[in-house]
Amino acid sequence: MSRPTIEFFRNAFGELPRAVASAPGRVNLIGEHTDYNGGPVLPIAIAERTTVAVGPGPVNAPGVLEAISTRYDKVIRVRWQEELPKGWATYVAGVLRELWTLDALPKMNGVRVAVTSDVPVGAGVASSAALSVAAAKALATLAGSTLTPRQLAGVAFRAEYDHVGVRCGVMDQTIAALAKREHALLLECASLDARQIPFHARLFLVDTGVRHNLSAGRLNERRAECEAAVKRLKLELPELVWLASWPAEWLLRLKRALREPLRARAVHVVGETARTRFAAQLLERGRLKQFGSLLYESHESCRHLYECSAPELDTIVAAAKRAGALGARLTGAGWGGAAIVLLRKTDTKTIPAIQRAFEKVYGRTPPVTEVHASAGVRAKHI
Ligand code: GLA
Repeated sequence: MSRPTIEFFRNAFGELPRAVASAPGRVNLIGEHTDYNGGPVLPIAIAERTTVAVGPGPVNAPGVLEAISTRYDKVIRVRWQEELPKGWATYVAGVLRELWTLDALPKMNGVRVAVTSDVPVGAGVASSAALSVAAAKALATLAGSTLTPRQLAGVAFRAEYDHVGVRCGVMDQTIAALAKREHALLLECASLDARQIPFHARLFLVDTGVRHNLSAGRLNERRAECEAAVKRLKLELPELVWLASWPAEWLLRLKRALREPLRARAVHVVGETARTRFAAQLLERGRLKQFGSLLYESHESCRHLYECSAPELDTIVAAAKRAGALGARLTGAGWGGAAIVLLRKTDTKTIPAIQRAFEKVYGRTPPVTEVHASAGVRAKHI
């Protein structure tokens, strides 16, 4: 797994790296836009990973980060304490700054970082968290610091939130750090309570090909709407901290207190919170059919109330439903990216039916991959 990254490092910098780590992308089964509202999420890690090789920088360049990725052709050089690079290397610089505050950075002049990845970017499978978690693990390993998976997730989260400026929640970094093979993770994002739930179902990812860039705004806009909703709802319930903690049985009161679009956003978050907890129970009991119908409900709520779907995603989900899939929904932030489709063991017809329906509208075939719940971050010294 790490050999191509080690070779890439050597070709770029003329010497071997000292440590290498990799972390996976993810799909979220259910619990969308709940994490930054203090609710539950239920993601799994996918087999696609980002691998980061690291080593010390040149002696005459103290405090300098040199970073290269196979996806972009030039080496980025930056004094990471003073300035943030643009683009993908911001995540690495953010990780360096966070590790520095934990005193978990290599005591050396500068650092060199080389990145390879098969996690698609902008497809809604959290490529940025795979990069930040892998970078945090590789750099901590280089420094000889033993950070726990939860600490690594924290470093990666703060890198993205504080330094890159994406107002994301903790889901993506946490699953990249804590994932277990053949398990989904039920994560309660207010308490950070986490539970592994066996996951063996047949799941597919259908990529719309529509790409998005989260730092460009819509996630931040939704988050601001949720914060405005909490501010107003505090007049009704002063102890309210998280939107997801609004009592589900007080939905009428919530609807009366808020105007659109805050009302629709809040109804989504409260409904999705209940759905996700229920879905986790159903999954644990192997009730895949009922679990699947909650996926459809979640998609409908994302589409209609949270308005984070896209026509391409709706086409896929509607075709999956017509063809008899157990469940389907957008996954990740939305506005493009990919949809997940849950199938019965014997179902061979649904995927071709989805592809045909998509081709009819958009004139191209959406790529489909089967998803296997995979393991989280791992590292090795070289
Ligand atoms: C993005 C964010 C996550 C989460 C999802 C929506 O992937 O990075 O933290 O908010 O959107 O559920």
